[in-house]
Amino acid sequence: MAAKREAPVESQKTARIKMVLNGEAQDVVFAPYKTLLEVLREDLGHTGTKHGCELGECGACAVIMDGKPVLSCLVLAVDCDGREILTVEGMETDGRLHPLQEAFADLGGMQCGYCTPGILLTAKSLLDHNPHPSRAEIREALSGNLCRCTGYLQIFDAVEAAMVEIAKRGETTK
Ligand code: FES
Ligand code: FES
Repeated sequence: MAAKREAPVESQKTARIKMVLNGEAQDVVFAPYKTLLEVLREDLGHTGTKHGCELGECGACAVIMDGKPVLSCLVLAVDCDGREILTVEGMETDGRLHPLQEAFADLGGMQCGYCTPGILLTAKSLLDHNPHPSRAEIREALSGNLCRCTGYLQIFDAVEAAMVEIAKRGETTK
């Protein structure tokens, strides 16, 4: 893990962007060297996005940007002007957890939970684009998200359960 930097003093916060974070327009001011991961956690207090390797290798920091999963440790925040970002804090709707969150809780798709936000968002992006993925497609989509606890089977089961629930909810709203 990279060495910890001192928190920037206010005068170092010279970068300013606008982004839509979890559906809300935000003006964000931060030190220009920061990654999206750092700005989410340190400047915006969205600590649901996890800080893992900082090297693009673990997937713990995954968020959805403009509909696609990205590793927020590899994205400079200055490149996020005008972007739409979804983090785990924005997954619930009207006080109801997303079906993926419910399925992970019900089926033991997480243990320590450190990998979970990144996996939830990567899985959400998969289901948004491919509502009926095969298990092979789920494995492939999540192949960049490392989990040291579960052995992955419960994660794949939970994604499949969420897929069924999302289809059901879709039918009831038709
Ligand atoms: S923190 Fe590991 S991929 Fe970003
Ligand atoms: S639940 Fe612990 S790393 Fe995945």
